Amino acid sequence: MNVLVTGGAGFIGSHLVDRLVADGHDVSVIDNMSGGSLEFIKGHIGTIDLANADITTETDLENYMEGVEAVFHLAADPDVRGGFDRPAHQLDQNLIGTFNVLEASARSGVRTFCFTSTSTVYGNATVVPTPEDYGPLLPISVYGATKLACEGLISAYADNYGIDAPLFRFANVVGPRSTHGVIFDFVHKLRRNPADLEILGDGSQRKSYFYIDDCVEAMVHGWRVAKGAEAFNIGSADTIDVTRLADIVVDVMGLRNVWYRYTGGVRGAGWKGDVKYMHLAIDRMRALGWEPELDSSGAVRKAAERIVGEVEAAFAAKDRK
Ligand SMILES: NC(=O)c1ccc[n+]([C@@H]2O[C@H](COP(=O)([O-])OP(=O)(O)OC[C@H]3O[C@@H](n4cnc5c(N)ncnc54)[C@H](O)[C@@H]3O)[C@@H](O)[C@H]2O)c1
Repeated sequence: MNVLVTGGAGFIGSHLVDRLVADGHDVSVIDNMSGGSLEFIKGHIGTIDLANADITTETDLENYMEGVEAVFHLAADPDVRGGFDRPAHQLDQNLIGTFNVLEASARSGVRTFCFTSTSTVYGNATVVPTPEDYGPLLPISVYGATKLACEGLISAYADNYGIDAPLFRFANVVGPRSTHGVIFDFVHKLRRNPADLEILGDGSQRKSYFYIDDCVEAMVHGWRVAKGAEAFNIGSADTIDVTRLADIVVDVMGLRNVWYRYTGGVRGAGWKGDVKYMHLAIDRMRALGWEPELDSSGAVRKAAERIVGEVEAAFAAKDRK
């Protein structure tokens, strides 16, 4: 099939592109490289169509959609914390960008629109594990609010144009090529100072983490089974707290006696808009035949091993120059 991936040079997008190419699809990518890297998809240059374009300013996105049957729309500003300081930017990147891609998809006859939403649409949910039909949805971050607004738009287009639209509400995705997130942050901090680690919040924030391979498998599976617009929680079946996560990263880096310095944060959460306890009920996707292979600790450990390897390789390459 002809498939378009927006944000295909990013962390999740580049792994999805690996999988779609391996499955024999004709893949095109739109990415403005604001958060992604050509390095992540360089193995596919010549095989995929790559457009260095911006979904918020490109006037003719339909040009990229001729014959495209499915769109995986990932391009966004994924920085939950940054949305507090840059709400207008996040509104533009997430909501207006999604509107532009969606409108072009509908006009081009795209059959399936797969969207990367987020657990943050639930805000501080009072039911945990939180199922997809939980409500009211009251996000506490601009990021979560923009993604929820995107879900609404996509639902309307799915109904009006007969598009299938799985809305993937991801927990924290971890793995190699990530350029943000708590593991990435801890590895870099510990490399700078192996004796002392600053941890945002009080360390008791408890969340679900799942591995990038499970994420890609869920997206491909959701694409196959989607009917109309439907939300799917995607995460691991359990949670871990941030202190435990720090312990795993410290262990992977072979460090001992690291002093943890908690910032206290906002009511114990890392920052304004941080959900302190996130655990998604994943029964809906499980019932359709998807199952995460790793639990939260396993995903964090595997991701930390890979990220440490990447960081060391990058520093070694710098030293050789
Ligand atoms: N990583 C997670 O844990 C997580 C959790 C929930 C949801 N998501 C969502 O998954 C998607 C991918 O996230 P990620 O972690 O891979 O982030 P990422 O920053 O690595 O990937 C986003 C990609 O989109 C591109 N992009 C951004 N703005 C663009 C624009 N205006 N035009 C064209 N390209 C643009 C960036 O260059 C980047 O390659 C995002 O929509 C994010 O909100 C991620």
